[in-house]
Amino acid sequence: MSVPPAGIPPFQLLLEGDDEELELLKRKIERDRGFNCQFYKDKCLRRRIAVRMRARGERTFADYGSLLDRDPGEYDLLLDTLTINVTKFFRNMETWNAVEQQVAPHLFAGPGPVRVWSAGSASGEEAYTVSILLREWAQRNGRTADLARLRITGTDIDRRSLEAAERGAYPELSLTETPEAVRRRWFSPGPPFQLDAAAKQGVRFVHRDLISGPPEAEQSLIFCRNVVIYFDREIQERLFKRFHDALVPGGFLVMGKVETLIGEARTLFRSVNNRERIFQRPA
Ligand SMILES: C[S@@+](CC[C@H](N)C(=O)[O-])C[C@H]1O[C@@H](n2cnc3c(N)ncnc32)[C@H](O)[C@@H]1O
Repeated sequence: MSVPPAGIPPFQLLLEGDDEELELLKRKIERDRGFNCQFYKDKCLRRRIAVRMRARGERTFADYGSLLDRDPGEYDLLLDTLTINVTKFFRNMETWNAVEQQVAPHLFAGPGPVRVWSAGSASGEEAYTVSILLREWAQRNGRTADLARLRITGTDIDRRSLEAAERGAYPELSLTETPEAVRRRWFSPGPPFQLDAAAKQGVRFVHRDLISGPPEAEQSLIFCRNVVIYFDREIQERLFKRFHDALVPGGFLVMGKVETLIGEARTLFRSVNNRERIFQRPA
């Protein structure tokens, strides 16, 4: 298709037709920016690419591809849109309450490092929430010496998000689910709200593609929330197997509220809290 037929809204067309041009655009994005669109659900991709095309008044995938060549700023915006890096500190507070009650007490039970992986960490809010939560838990339970064993790794495919994570300075929007007392203890007044250096201790961020990159290993706790939902079924199943293998026996996996284990993965984990999507690799 080059020009949409009169009377049909171009946006609707973009959501349905033009498989060949879309395929070419997907390959171009991978070639230019290393973002592999093939693993993502087509419907999600189309919707997001269409949003950017509409914003720039482009009517065909081919024309939009040419615009990307002329305008690197638009390329950055497209990648932001494709990766959707929306996140917050203490996102879904009920999940964090469950992590505190059902996971934290087990984490430091054995000796050695306690590794936590935030897979798809975006700008770091999830990784730092774990840090704050476990530090507060350790203080309340007289376990602060154990914190020296804590290593938190956030990984993401989006470099700009990772840079923001390293800066650790956040807008108001990132803190709307954070209890006031926690805000006062762990952030300087803002905006931007700068995270206290103590919460950054033992936390690192690494650029990594969850699908094609090397997996982490020996993890006690993995968060992968609001990430797999965008992947097709086969990739999801492959990732769940990877998470299983990356966990120590007895290690925990926390998924997003709208996500769930599928296929064979259901036999690999036992459920700790169904509502909050907390699972455990059997010991
Ligand atoms: C909606 S955010 C989720 C952030 C956080 N986990 C949360 O639940 O608040 C999704 C993140 O997954 C990342 N992502 C998408 N595809 C990825 C991939 N193949 N490898 C690594 N990260 C990916 C995006 O860049 C984005 O930062």
